[in-house]
Amino acid sequence: MKARCGPGRAVPLEPFRVLLAARFGLSSGERDDARLTAAVTSAVAHGAAATPDELLSLVARGDARATALMLQSATVGETFVLRDAAHFEVVAQRLRDARASGRSMRMWSAGCASGEEAYSLALVAREVLGASADGWVEILGTDVNPCAVERAEAGLYAPWSFRGVSAELRERYFRRDATRFRAHDALRRLVRFAVLNLVADDAPWPSAMDVVFCRNVTLYITGERLPRLAQRFEEALAPGGILVPGPSDPVLPFGPSVRRRVAPGCLYYARTEEPPAAPASPSPSPSPSPSPPSSAPPPCWSPVRSPSMPPSPLPTLPLLVPGEPALPAASPGAAVPPAASDGSPAPPAQAYVQRALAHAAAGNATEALAEARRALAMDHTLAVAHVVAASASVTLGDGAAAARFVRNARKLLAGAELEAPAPLAGDVTGATLLAYCARFERLLGERKDKA
Ligand SMILES: C[S@@+](CC[C@H](N)C(=O)[O-])C[C@H]1O[C@@H](n2cnc3c(N)ncnc32)[C@H](O)[C@@H]1O
Repeated sequence: MKARCGPGRAVPLEPFRVLLAARFGLSSGERDDARLTAAVTSAVAHGAAATPDELLSLVARGDARATALMLQSATVGETFVLRDAAHFEVVAQRLRDARASGRSMRMWSAGCASGEEAYSLALVAREVLGASADGWVEILGTDVNPCAVERAEAGLYAPWSFRGVSAELRERYFRRDATRFRAHDALRRLVRFAVLNLVADDAPWPSAMDVVFCRNVTLYITGERLPRLAQRFEEALAPGGILVPGPSDPVLPFGPSVRRRVAPGCLYYARTEEPPAAPASPSPSPSPSPSPPSSAPPPCWSPVRSPSMPPSPLPTLPLLVPGEPALPAASPGAAVPPAASDGSPAPPAQAYVQRALAHAAAGNATEALAEARRALAMDHTLAVAHVVAASASVTLGDGAAAARFVRNARKLLAGAELEAPAPLAGDVTGATLLAYCARFERLLGERKDKA
């Protein structure tokens, strides 16, 4: 399909489709031709580029102005205040609970378009907490479309943005400004906005969010980007935090620590308060014996033991097993050894290994992975670090990375003395590390079978 751009000149849309999918995860089929054509034509008309070809290469090179002008029409920015009111009742209840327990709340409107969703969260916070929302509630609104973020920051809306909202409620939180309505300072104080591309791996990622609204966004994102996005949302959620999708959004493939929940008129996801409890684990042997019937895979730091077997004669990795004593080399009582302070010399790889193990034991897969990577950056031959990184990657749902770490660990252990402790692994032997490798391989195989 070709778009017309200028008198009699047709532009092929396919390269734009491919580029928008690659850079922003935006899926577009033939039914989106009109929108895509409008995006190209309007960006060129606004001076982003002299021709569609030039526009294509500017957007491909990340030119900010061309990209913004293109995204302005290539994305669907439909939104309004208190859209799907039942979703906000779930938030109101969370706010009441937070107030009762004296906790603050961090909320994120991911794919906020022109900001009505973020201001709606602020409005609900004011309704529930009154003036004490100041200082207790923080709301972040982000969108890939910089023009939308600019509109969100302005917070100035036409009456159509308030369809379904009573005039009384609207007037309480938005001041009339000629024919439009501007968000009151009481809302604006709670909200800040930023441009953020949800599918860019290098995007600065929010964390410790109690509530994430990502509604009517993932339905525009290509299916193959969703597993990674789900993994990153999981990282963004505080323990017990929730993610609310739109009613027509695809199911997000979360790992076992995020469960689906239902409230009246609202289906949402909730991260567990704690890492999932360790169910009985299957045998560490790589034999093809059937695995136990479990719907969710066990956490990958669970002991490598079979319920039908006596405890394995091999010591397990102590710090990967909740409740077991710390690795002897780790400082006793310190769950996670402190990070090097600024300016101090880099700690040896051993410190990173200890921190990785401690984080794994505490259920912090993201941090465990980061520390294991740091250890590997110092010494790539540390089989124990590869195994911890594999365990964290399995937990985070990154099967490809987990498989890579397992392969590396196996290569390193191939020529090693298996009954001897592995380097920097305390008294954990190469054989134990190999048993974990086998366990992870089986988990990854099971996941592939299920997919
Ligand atoms: C239909 S609006 C949803 C607005 C609001 N969440 C709601 O439900 O009312 C979809 C928004 O998702 C944004 N979006 C699409 N792809 C995105 C991406 N890769 N990263 C961030 N935002 C994205 C679009 O720019 C658009 O503003």
